[in-house]
Amino acid sequence: MSEVSRFYGGPGGLLATISSVFAAAGLDRATLRPADLAPVDEFHIRGRAASLEIVEALGLTPGSRVLDLGSGLGGPARTLTELTSCTVVGVDLTPEFCEVATALSDWTGLSDRTRFQVGDATNTGLPDASMDAAMTVHVAMNIADKPGLYAEAFRVLRPGGRFVVYDVLQGEGGAVHYPVPWATDPSTSFLATPEEMRELLPAAGFEISAEVDSSDESLAWFQQLRARIQHDGPPPVTFAAFLGDAFGQMATNQVANLAERRIRTVMYTCSRPL
Ligand SMILES: C[S@@+](CC[C@H](N)C(=O)[O-])C[C@H]1O[C@@H](n2cnc3c(N)ncnc32)[C@H](O)[C@@H]1O
Repeated sequence: MSEVSRFYGGPGGLLATISSVFAAAGLDRATLRPADLAPVDEFHIRGRAASLEIVEALGLTPGSRVLDLGSGLGGPARTLTELTSCTVVGVDLTPEFCEVATALSDWTGLSDRTRFQVGDATNTGLPDASMDAAMTVHVAMNIADKPGLYAEAFRVLRPGGRFVVYDVLQGEGGAVHYPVPWATDPSTSFLATPEEMRELLPAAGFEISAEVDSSDESLAWFQQLRARIQHDGPPPVTFAAFLGDAFGQMATNQVANLAERRIRTVMYTCSRPL
C-alpha cells in the first residue's frame, strides 16, 4: 500500500464509525440524503458548495457519463448524480475509501448511478473517449506526475467533453505549514502553482475556459467551520473519523496557510477540443 493510501486509510473501521455516529444521532439510514453526509464525504475545502459549482461547470444532462479521478468517499459523485441523474465512475487509490463510498451510495439509494473502483488516477484502465465529463477534486496535491494525471483525463474524455479541476495550489506566501488534510509532511505533497496549471492543462491538450480563485471564500469557510465547532461542538461525524486527532491541527494550519497565501484554491473548467 502506498504512503498516500496509508495516510487516508487511517485506523480502519471507517464505515462502522460513520454508521454508529449516525445511529447515535438518531439519523435513519433509509431516509439519508447525500447532503446529510457532506461533513464527512465532501472531503475538500468549501464542501458541498464547491460540488454544486462543479455540477454547473460540467454542464451535465441525465445519462452523462462522468469520471471522478480520486473520488474519496464519493460525496462529489453523489451530489452530481442526485442533481443531474448522471452516472459517475470514481477511481481512488485508497481501498477503504472505495468500499465506504460504495456503501454510502447504497445507503442513499444511488448505487445504480455511482461505481467506485480502486486504481491510480494516472492510469485508470478505462477505455479511450468513454466519458462525457471528468473531474478531479483536491487530489493532484498528492500526485507528482501531473502531466500523467491530466493526460489520463484527456484520454478517457470524449472530444467536446468538459473537465473540471478543483485543487489546492501553491501560493506565493511561502512553504506550507504541515500537517495538512492531504499530508503529514512535504514527502507526499506536490502543489502546482497557478502559473504551472496554465501550462499543464493545455500541454495535456485541454482548452481552459474558466479559472476561478476561491481562496478568500476558502479562508472564510475554514474560519466559520472553526467558529461553529467552538460554539456548537463538532458535527456528529467529521474528517477526524479517518484523519484522527491530527485533524484539529490540520484545520488550524489551513487557516494560516490560506491567510498567509501559502496555498490557493482554484477551479479550472476545461474542455477536450472537438
Ligand atoms: C482530499 S481527498 C479528496 C476526495 C474527493 N475528491 C472529495 O473531494 O471528496 C484526496 C483523495 O485522493 C486520492 N488519491 C491520492 N492520490 C491518488 C492517485 N494517484 N490516484 C487515485 N486517487 C488518489 C486519495 O486516496 C483520497 O481519496
